[in-house]
Amino acid sequence: MTRFLKLICITITIFVLTTPVSAGDAAAGKVIYDGKGACTTCHGATGAGDGVASAALNPKPASFVAAQFRLDTDGDGSNGTDMDLFNSIKFGGAKYGGNAAMPGRADFSDAEINDLVAYIHSLKK
Ligand code: HEC
Repeated sequence: MTRFLKLICITITIFVLTTPVSAGDAAAGKVIYDGKGACTTCHGATGAGDGVASAALNPKPASFVAAQFRLDTDGDGSNGTDMDLFNSIKFGGAKYGGNAAMPGRADFSDAEINDLVAYIHSLKK
């Protein structure tokens, strides 16, 4: 019995250590994306960048499905990182030389933005 308990403790410890603390919840992100975030208007229901308003946008929103991201918000030489998506959503496109039509959502909590980041990653096909 003690050996069994030890095994459970080790399993839980490994799980806790290997799960990133800041990781968002993609399912919760979808609820915001489709709902109060109104992200579908521009980014489209599947994230393909083909929302109803996208025709009027230049540059157009990148396709989350193709994971073709444009903005390198932290200047580390790669775009589409968790940090880049987080900053784009929190502060908007204009701050990073992108399309000002991408609204900053500093009204969302960091946890909500992390959920959106997780959802965007999950849209990749
Ligand atoms: C009014 C239209 C509009 C809405 C609403 C909108 N976006 Fe955007 N978004 C854009 C445009 C246009 C870009 C492209 C910016 C660029 O590349 O210059 C963009 C870029 C982005 C990027 C950066 C992608 C990249 O290429 O690096 C992310 C992430 C993003 N949007 C997420 C969201 C999320 C999440 C929501 C909902 C909370 C949202 N957007 C709502 C228009 C919009």
